[in-house]
Amino acid sequence: MTLHIGAAPETIADTVLLPGDPLRAHWAAHTFLSDVEPIHSVRGMLGFTGTWNGQKVSIQGTGMGMPSLSIYVNELITGYNVQTLIRIGSCGGMQDHVELRDIVLAMASSSVSTPSSTVLKELSYAPIADWTLLRNAVRSCETQDIRHHIGGIYSSDTFYSDRQDLDQQLVRHGILAVEMEAAELYSLAARYNRRALAILTVSDHLTTGQALSADDREHSFSDMVAIALETAFPEAANQASTNDRTSV
Ligand code: HPA
Repeated sequence: MTLHIGAAPETIADTVLLPGDPLRAHWAAHTFLSDVEPIHSVRGMLGFTGTWNGQKVSIQGTGMGMPSLSIYVNELITGYNVQTLIRIGSCGGMQDHVELRDIVLAMASSSVSTPSSTVLKELSYAPIADWTLLRNAVRSCETQDIRHHIGGIYSSDTFYSDRQDLDQQLVRHGILAVEMEAAELYSLAARYNRRALAILTVSDHLTTGQALSADDREHSFSDMVAIALETAFPEAANQASTNDRTSV
């Protein structure tokens, strides 16, 4: 057990999906996985383990913002030896062509600072996604015909931004969307030689002010979890679709 994850050794899978919201971890585990077991509930930051098409997978809430995510990802990596970490979360669209409900696959994430800045000091490090996971996610979106965008995002320390000048520069430099966790996830994965990807659903839009209703959120979040599972286990996804075809 680690300080913030009270799970017994071996109860956490090599692959972990990471929603910010612990209740979404509960929903995703019970909606998508079989043989679901709650693994801990320290501070209400719920974690679950189950199977998807025969593959063991865990889903662990991270809380909001990079300091909170950093605690859970550090402990999953150093305490439980997790290899593959896939964030599933929401983001605010920043470009006109990025619409509500679209999926954003974060190839890289810029930030003003991350908890890892204490290690990186003056280095303007470029946190990037794992290439194989990114490729798998693109394939999953293409196969399921889901609208998606691949590119740079911004990991912010604030949800309520008062930096219109910075937002303008981000838009100008092609940043697709804003969220609050990916840059630290990518930095930690790089430091410990693990694989990471952030798969995001556009839940609101900075320029239009539009936002998804609670119902819409649930449906588009389903797409995102399905993409994340296919991304982590492409062979199991292919096997499942072959079985579907042969059983009709
Ligand atoms: N800003 C920051 N994080 C977010 C947003 C946003 O507009 N939407 C979803 N996560």
